[in-house]
Amino acid sequence: MRFSLKLALLAGLAAGVTYLGSANAADEAKLREIKGCMAFQNKVRGDLGKQAKAKDVNWDSIQKQTKEWLKVAEDLGKNKPPKGDDASWKEQTTKYMTNVKAVDSAAEKKDADSFTKALATIGASCGACHGKHKPK
Ligand code: HEC
Repeated sequence: MRFSLKLALLAGLAAGVTYLGSANAADEAKLREIKGCMAFQNKVRGDLGKQAKAKDVNWDSIQKQTKEWLKVAEDLGKNKPPKGDDASWKEQTTKYMTNVKAVDSAAEKKDADSFTKALATIGASCGACHGKHKPK
């Protein structure tokens, strides 16, 4: 349901809205796979870190990106990991979701300190999941 909604939304976006304007259905499908989630989150983490350091932080723009990140994080958990068992995958992806939610809620509060801390928490969380689920 949400998927088709999002495709319809993207079709609308292709008509000229700039945010996510370059995404097409194929990119969108890739985004939902683990590697796509990883690529997205690595980009957004770096971008958000920089934006939070700006003199005039544009929280509106940041909030749009954290919302998008939440969707990607949710999709991550729907994948099957290439390695490791389902219970552990559920635990790791749930933890990841919690961490991304913390970034989003700090953005909602426009709280730069908690925002930076929440990003750092995610930055320190990669290894635990990779150790169990990422093939060498
Ligand atoms: C909830 C689990 C989880 C977390 C948290 C996680 N990753 Fe991953 N990541 C994976 C899995 C699983 C793969 C392997 C995907 C595959 O090979 O299909 C992966 C692969 C990658 C890759 C290789 C992608 C590619 O195209 O081959 C990069 C880069 C990466 N992760 C970066 C990160 C960084 C940086 C963080 C922390 C900020 C992070 N990941 C956090 C699960 C996670």
